[in-house]
Amino acid sequence: MAGLTPENLARARETVALYPQPRSALIPLCHQAQAQEGWLTPDAISQIAELVGVSAAEVRGTASFYDMLHLEPVGKFLIGVCTNISCMLGGAYELLAHAEDRLGIRCGQTTADGTFTLEEMECLAGCDGPTCVAVNYRYFPNQDESTFDTLVDDLAAGRLDGDVPCHGTVSRVDRTVTLMAQRDEVLAERAASDRARSERQAAKEAKG
Ligand code: FES
Repeated sequence: MAGLTPENLARARETVALYPQPRSALIPLCHQAQAQEGWLTPDAISQIAELVGVSAAEVRGTASFYDMLHLEPVGKFLIGVCTNISCMLGGAYELLAHAEDRLGIRCGQTTADGTFTLEEMECLAGCDGPTCVAVNYRYFPNQDESTFDTLVDDLAAGRLDGDVPCHGTVSRVDRTVTLMAQRDEVLAERAASDRARSERQAAKEAKG
């Protein structure tokens, strides 16, 4: 299984250096790794664990808590159909059943060619019309069976590649603001924080 590429490993190290505590970078690193492969491979999990100083089990435990992080391969396009109350009243379950038929898979499965994964999702904040669908977390509100079929055709044909990146891409624009922090300054602040913590601990122990 693929681990982080040298470029992404270097980027991950830069990200870790931005946080006072390395483990605070755990979730950002998970997103970075997922942007590379579409899911968190075992090798990437081991690398993340080493980078932030926790066990691989802790990385898996954290990732398994969040719906957006995947521990198994996900299709190029993760299609989510909202079935919360507003969309449900507008026919979300009927649309979900249609999606299963159209894609030839059950909810939670991935097509054999690895192109589509279908999921049921909670409210996507597109409640002003029926039914809201998300593809790789890009929203397509007001879907019915006809528009859904067009959406799938357009995705498969690559006509929406400019709007919908491959799964795992949270943002196609790298965070540049936080990365402008100087690594040496961050490391110096971290060292000062560690010293202060040690002094507090020593003072506490001296008090008995
Ligand atoms: S209920 Fe479906 S987007 Fe809010």
